[in-house]
Parts: sequence; C-alpha cells; structure tokens
Amino acid sequence: MLKVDRLTVHRGGRAVLQDISLTLQPGRTLAVLGESGAGKSTLVAAVLGLLRPERGSVTWNGAPIARGGSALVMQEPRAAFNPRLSLRRSVLEPLRAKGLPDDPKRIARLCDGLELDPACLDRRPYQVSVGQAQRLGVLRALLAAPPLILFDEPLSALDAMTQKHTARLISALQREEGFAALIVTHDLGYAAAHADTVAVLRAGVIEEAAEATAFFGAPQSAYGQRLVGAAVSLGALERRAAA
Ligand SMILES: Nc1ncnc2c1ncn2[C@@H]1O[C@H](COP(=O)(O)OP(=O)(O)O)[C@@H](O)[C@H]1O
Ligand SMILES: [Mg+2]
Repeated sequence: MLKVDRLTVHRGGRAVLQDISLTLQPGRTLAVLGESGAGKSTLVAAVLGLLRPERGSVTWNGAPIARGGSALVMQEPRAAFNPRLSLRRSVLEPLRAKGLPDDPKRIARLCDGLELDPACLDRRPYQVSVGQAQRLGVLRALLAAPPLILFDEPLSALDAMTQKHTARLISALQREEGFAALIVTHDLGYAAAHADTVAVLRAGVIEEAAEATAFFGAPQSAYGQRLVGAAVSLGALERRAAA
C-alpha cells in the first residue's frame, strides 16, 4: 500500500504541499484532481522520491519506495523520450536500470495489450504519432512491473478519441498486471469512469478525499462541488451540441 503521511514540500522557499496524507491500495486507482498550480506534479515528484520533503514521509508497504519501485508516465509523450535514441532503447531502460534482461515475450504481450505495432520500437520519438508515443510511455513504465505507476496528466496531449481508447487500454492492463495507479487528471469524466478514490488538491492542501462514487455522487467540499458542478454542466453542453 502507498502511504503518504503528513507530507509537506517546499519549493522556491515556500510550502507548495502542506500536510498531505493519502493512501492507495495495490491494484487500485487514485485520481488527484485540482487546478493548475495546486501542487499535483509536486506530489508526483515527491512520491517518486525526486523531491525531498520538508516533513512527512512516503512509503510502500511501510518502507521507503526503492529506486525502480515506481514509474512515471508524463504529460508530453514525445518529450518523454530521448530524440536521439530508438524507442526500443528508451523503453528498455527500466529493465537495464534494474539489471534485468530484455524480455521479448513480455514486450510482445504488452504491445498487444496496448494495441501497439512492435515495429514502432525501431523508430525515433518524432516518427510515431502522439497517441503511439503515449502508449510507448505506458509500455516503458510497465515493463519492469513496478507495483505503483504515477500518471501526470497522461492523456491531455491526446485528442478525445485517442484519450478514451488509451484510457481503456490502461485500465485493462491494470486489471491484468495489478499495479496501483496514481493519476493526475483534469478530466473528471475519466476520473469518474476509472478511479476508485479521489483526492482534490487546492493550493497545496487536500480539500477532500473520498471514494470516487461518493465524491461524484455528493462532493462534500465547496471546491469539490464547484469542480463536479462545472463538469456536469460541461457534459450537458456537449450532449446538446451532439444532439
Ligand atoms: N521548480 C520549482 N521552483 C519553485 N516553485 C515551483 C517549482 N515547480 C513548481 N513550483 C510551484 O509549486 C506550485 C505547484 O506546482 P505544480 O506542482 O507544478 O502544480 P500542478 O501540477 O498542480 O499544476 C506552483 O505554485 C508552482 O509555481
Ligand atoms: Mg502539473
């Protein structure tokens, strides 16, 4: 289980996360919601161990998260890869880092699950589509089977159709592989469809944390109500536009 316990992180001389406590069970999905600047990416960096907290701790099953114990899927898929390397080399990097051998069978199976043509691996980042690059980012994160995968706005660079498709593929793989997912997203529809629990972050503090069904059914905080209310009226507009 991931446990973030009373975490405070300073950046640029001020607290950008204050007293954050969260848990995430194996195989489950936690959606972190909140406006730009709320501290979502800082939370991801702190969970990955890239930022040293001022106070508090991040643990997996009671121990600090070891290097390689978690993996990140970033927002800008093509920027996530070194343009000078073949995608295969970049994708295999987590195995190399752990001293594990290449695993062609697992790569083939994951490519299949992600509906990725394995020939993509022999291209460079600018020679695949953004949607393919994002699925290659998921492949890289999954390859060494970390128990926890962090997704920082993983679908926001994709068009709406590709978003839905990629979200479904990630969910299906999560059921097979059993990793815990912490997903930062602006997309409340995505969170409603895929998250088990939700945490709403605002100006570095948690406004509300709840089971997703409870949150979307009846958000308790004023800010949560605004978020869900805005998404509902947006949905109504979309349905009107489609009618
Ligand atoms: N490297 C940095 N140095 C100083 N302040 C930063 C740095 N990165 C982010 N911040 C500040 O921390 C706050 C949270 O940023 P961030 O975690 O990126 O938010 P979000 O991902 O929710 O948009 C913002 O006020 C941002 O300006
Ligand atoms: Mg961010």
